[in-house]
Amino acid sequence: MSKAVRIRSITPPEIAARKGGDPIVCLTAYTTPMAKLIDGDVDLMLVGDSLGMVVYGLPSTLGVTLDMMIAHGQAVMRGASRACVVVDLPFGSYEASPQQAFDAAARVMCETGCAAVKLEGGRAMAETIRFLTERGIPVLGHVGLTPQSVNVLGGYKVRGRSREEAERIIADGVAVAEAGAFGIVVEKTIEPVARELTARVSVPTIGIGGSPACDGQILVTEDIVGMFPDFKPKFVKRYADLGVELQRAVQAYASEVRARSFPGPEHCFPSNLQVATSSSTG
Ligand code: KIV
Repeated sequence: MSKAVRIRSITPPEIAARKGGDPIVCLTAYTTPMAKLIDGDVDLMLVGDSLGMVVYGLPSTLGVTLDMMIAHGQAVMRGASRACVVVDLPFGSYEASPQQAFDAAARVMCETGCAAVKLEGGRAMAETIRFLTERGIPVLGHVGLTPQSVNVLGGYKVRGRSREEAERIIADGVAVAEAGAFGIVVEKTIEPVARELTARVSVPTIGIGGSPACDGQILVTEDIVGMFPDFKPKFVKRYADLGVELQRAVQAYASEVRARSFPGPEHCFPSNLQVATSSSTG
């Protein structure tokens, strides 16, 4: 009798143990089909609040709600079996107090079955990260450019260009690690900051516009496959042009439908059944 092999998911402690080892491969996923497609090749799958822009066409991540994150977390969990699935806490769901963060994170963990949550912020969030981790919720930190603070930062430009800001980002990362985060996303900082932070903390850093010295890398999956042909940020490498390919396929379909060359005989269901014609029904 053959036995079904249940693939075990990678856990947050296993991600933490990869510090200084083989690079940790991370990508975003928001849907079941995408999770199924990438599960075999990534160590960590992030249900990022970037879904606000990528899936919903919002101008920033600020309009993303906890219910949206939970719905997409559930979808991704239906498609992932190997990767460690982490779900973002959206803006407004965790910053007010550790208790507010616990309530939001507990909902995410219980209702999706994911392995951990991610939240943005450095020293200001250290108490909250400690509160969550001491109560059974693994947390992935996020420092450097923190998109939920876009209005305070004044845009999405590279962080850490001044010595003061570089030191602040490193202090933020150190505080997040000391508070118990199992890893830290380091977004869009000058390379020496990401490198120095990686050297200073005992948990893995996951870079996005960071440094090859980071312990892992993350990007938005739609960006690396070219789903948005006009969006070409410096820190993204494009490995395919699926947006252009998709438009080509849709144009071919549209012209075949217009020319009545689709559907062809191979797409129809032949039968000997005689069906009354419109002239015999009146
Ligand atoms: O929301 C997101 O997708 C992210 C990453 C790309 C780091 O936070």
